[in-house]
Amino acid sequence: RPVPVLAIDGPSASGKGTVAARVAAALGFDHLDSGALYRIVALAALEKGVALDDEAALAGLAAALPARFEGDKVLLDGRDVSDAIRSEACSVGASRVAALPAVREALFWRQRAYRRGPGLVGEGRDMGSVIFPDAQVKIFLTASAEARADRRYKQLIDKGMPANMDDLLRDLRERDERDSRRAVAPLRKEDDAALLDTSDMTVGQAVDFVMAEAAALR
Ligand code: C5P
Repeated sequence: RPVPVLAIDGPSASGKGTVAARVAAALGFDHLDSGALYRIVALAALEKGVALDDEAALAGLAAALPARFEGDKVLLDGRDVSDAIRSEACSVGASRVAALPAVREALFWRQRAYRRGPGLVGEGRDMGSVIFPDAQVKIFLTASAEARADRRYKQLIDKGMPANMDDLLRDLRERDERDSRRAVAPLRKEDDAALLDTSDMTVGQAVDFVMAEAAALR
């Protein structure tokens, strides 16, 4: 029997990271934050001065990425970059490098290798469509742009960081646009994915919905 995979795809700041982490913990599964991989490529490129449109150089970086996950920490060359990859520069950079086919190809097998027993919760844009098309459970987790910008705003304020609602909303829409319009692995709901709109839901309610879907894995 193939190793169970629960694929959660959706737009930026939809809350899928939080939901995926909680569901993975409840099921005792591994959690793959695939967006973090694209963010690490962007960070490495920014640090090394590699242009964000140099596809061959970026694919080289992605193929030899000295990155790993340790609990909820993200390490690059052994250095904790968990916060650094969440910066606005890395968010924008990730969505740019993710549009390049050679970069996606370089990360393909690395992502597939996360499928090990007892199971995996994979989270991103193309978990159910490209990386794990045979995932037993697929969920498209979304929320309105306003709800997502609002959550991001509160997170930033909580961390004591500067935040501007109009800028956040504009950046989110731009990223949605780039993620949905690109030729390779565009962001969209698969026919066989369950739709979960969390605009008016608490995290707990979203987790309950996903856990009910995950009952199919047992
Ligand atoms: O999910 P997160 O916002 O961390 O992802 C950062 C960027 O990486 C996204 O804007 C998207 O362009 C890209 N991404 C992707 N495919 C994935 C995960 C993320 O293209 N599976």
